[in-house]
Amino acid sequence: MWELERKSKIPIYKQITDHLERRISYGEFPPGSLLPSERKLAEQLGVNRSTVILAFAELRSMGIIESQTGSGTRVSKTKWGATPKHTPNWSRYAEGGSFLPNLPFMRRIREALNQNPSLIDFASGELSADLAPNDEITTLMSENKYTSYLGYDNPQGYIPLRQALVSYLDQHRGIKTTESSILITSGSQQSLYLITQCLLSPGDAVAIEDPSYCYSLPMFQSAGLRLFRLPVDSQGVCPEDIRALYKKHRIKMVFMNPNYQNPTGTVFGAERRKQLLDVASELALPIVEDDPFSLTDYEGSPPSPLKSMDSIGSVLYIGSFSKIAASGMRIGWMVAPNSIVERLADARQQMDFGLSVIPQQVAAQFLKSNYFEPHLDRLRMQLQYKRDLLIEALQKELPGLVTFTAPQGGLHLWCKLVPDVHDGKLLEESIKRGIVFVPGSVYGSDSGFVRFTFARAKEAEIGLGISKFADALRELMNSK
Ligand SMILES: Cc1ncc(COP(=O)(O)O)c(C=O)c1O
Repeated sequence: MWELERKSKIPIYKQITDHLERRISYGEFPPGSLLPSERKLAEQLGVNRSTVILAFAELRSMGIIESQTGSGTRVSKTKWGATPKHTPNWSRYAEGGSFLPNLPFMRRIREALNQNPSLIDFASGELSADLAPNDEITTLMSENKYTSYLGYDNPQGYIPLRQALVSYLDQHRGIKTTESSILITSGSQQSLYLITQCLLSPGDAVAIEDPSYCYSLPMFQSAGLRLFRLPVDSQGVCPEDIRALYKKHRIKMVFMNPNYQNPTGTVFGAERRKQLLDVASELALPIVEDDPFSLTDYEGSPPSPLKSMDSIGSVLYIGSFSKIAASGMRIGWMVAPNSIVERLADARQQMDFGLSVIPQQVAAQFLKSNYFEPHLDRLRMQLQYKRDLLIEALQKELPGLVTFTAPQGGLHLWCKLVPDVHDGKLLEESIKRGIVFVPGSVYGSDSGFVRFTFARAKEAEIGLGISKFADALRELMNSK
């Protein structure tokens, strides 16, 4: 995130030359490696391409870089005295390993947001700064100094946080548990990662909702799992489809996000919940219940989780602070049978020795404090308000061109586009006009959908963002 000093007496091209020279000498771009193109660098730095061309020319004249038509600009192999034979082929390593890169659309969105942080962000599935409890957390941190030993803690998680979660889960989610059945994780994402890496093996078949949470798709594939999709209708998935998948593919686990599902906003039907638990117990099939959104229910009466109805221990329950407080705290939890918690805590010890104790202490204090309930009330009200702003804007800007069902909780609105337009082109046209969203195809097999997150953008940006989106959509419709 290096920035130019525009008021400096040093010319801009020279600042770029010096910056690149430094990064090359630090080994960030080893001998022989490819530099970003002139166009990309100019875009990233917000300068004219001609300025970058000048900086490259200077580096070239010093023998630091070499350009070849058609194959881009590379760091010179001889300049640093490094013997090229001994330079590791880093790009080969970067493409190797068993961990797959993120989906191309998600990388494109991240790149666009890095390049232009002022884009109106309908893509990031998190709260805007004004919805997070920053003031409350600042007060708690100044009132409660950290005085305990700052050594490695229990990899299962900081005990006072697990104790606070026992009350939270009982009071807010109707889940009766004990602190020994809770594992603290670095967000739900890590719970999903631990489950896929430690409880499943390459080749295992699992069922997921279609559409479903996009960041877990490459993670499942990296773990070598075979994914089978369960269509989501207005009531969620059909339990009988799970039975059929089990018969056909011997699925080993089902992943579900039953409350305000990402991306559709659907709530899994009450009758289907009972049927699902019956199917799970009949087949001895574990269900992963990923439940980050339920407390955002705008009426303040969230649906009961599957886990609260699970008398035989079929459900691995995952929760998180990310969508109800602050995603950057990286606090998540899992409620699971003891053997699983022990296995995953042991894996945790090998991975990272557990989560930092400081955010865990803050989270425990926040959950127990008198700030928590009023924060939730305010959050629900403001999320509903933002949802309404988004819906109003869509009705005004795109009448007859989008259809959707207004969700009663969560952070997202799932829209079907009536005109048939290309996902990627629509995203690029929108980025050009200053907004990002997530194309629906990243969530599953169906195309022609868009996910707008209304929680992340500022209230004042929502109407403007949708009018820019409408321009992008009309541009593509007119160019057909
Ligand atoms: C359904 C679902 N599960 C898990 C996550 C991961 O959240 P975190 O790791 O921040 O708790 C997200 C984030 O968007 C999500 O939407």
